[in-house]
Amino acid sequence: MLEPERIARLEPGRVVFLDQRKLPLEEVDVACGTAAEVADAIQTMVVRGAPAIGVAAAYGIALAAETGEDLDAADAVLRASRPTAVNLAWALDEMRDDPSAEHARAIHHDEVARCRAMAAHAAELLQPGTRALTHCNAGGLATGGYGSAVGALVAAWERDLLTHVWVDETRPLLQGARLTAWELEAAGIPHAVIADSAAASQMAAGEVDVIFTGADRIARNGDTANKIGTYGLAVLARYHGIPFYVVAPSSTIDHSLADGGAIPIEERDPTEVTARFPARNPAFDVTPGELITAVVTEHGVHLAPYPESLRSAVVAP
Ligand code: MRU
Repeated sequence: MLEPERIARLEPGRVVFLDQRKLPLEEVDVACGTAAEVADAIQTMVVRGAPAIGVAAAYGIALAAETGEDLDAADAVLRASRPTAVNLAWALDEMRDDPSAEHARAIHHDEVARCRAMAAHAAELLQPGTRALTHCNAGGLATGGYGSAVGALVAAWERDLLTHVWVDETRPLLQGARLTAWELEAAGIPHAVIADSAAASQMAAGEVDVIFTGADRIARNGDTANKIGTYGLAVLARYHGIPFYVVAPSSTIDHSLADGGAIPIEERDPTEVTARFPARNPAFDVTPGELITAVVTEHGVHLAPYPESLRSAVVAP
């Protein structure tokens, strides 16, 4: 498993990220010397995944404070980098009163600790011999270390509850086929990459016992934004009677939203889908809370009705 500092770290005068666009073929770093360069690394997905985006933003503000940049301008350029993952705004709000390197590193450390806690809770939901399916990448790369949904798979594997993982390739940027497969390979967990469109037939064939995904923003009623394709999986899971779990830290819960209707959905460059023909490229979709079997945070397993059960899911002070 990658060390948190290998994924993102603050060094004197720069923030350094492992370039997730190049994985798994190449392990190269990207160094950012300004908040605007950190914002660009977030927008171009050098670093991606909701909690990791929050950590990156915290490091960007700490760098700006260290180098004497205007902090309001730094906050604004970072806040505008990507719209859907609420961890970005959460981390920037957290850093407002104390934009120090220590505080940013504490936010990073705490995200990893939350991952370990929620992974343990999620693993307890499984029976021996479980065959899981996951979508996109919600591993250590996406959280700054350990991982949320992939962390839960690792915890289940370590407890001899997991036997296999189906990994949606996750078009158009292949976070599943490139990043999740790489992390599962490193953990020695049996897995197979499938085309996103193959998930339905795997479920129909009885090959899937449970689905674990991460999240980018969760509203008070459980409506959850995650990588495009997640909603379709939840509908299929309901049809086939397969438990569908969202594993995410409380820093990903947006308590200001009663439901998912107001979650901003990022529309990315259509050429990520095809450069040859007209295209649309929504990067996320929203799964209604009623299709989610449970939301698992560092506090535990939260069941419907979510307005009650998620009320207590707040980041510990
Ligand atoms: O566009 P990305 O790669 O940032 O999308 C990431 C996801 O949708 C993840 O599932 C989500 O951020 C959870 S990461 C723990």
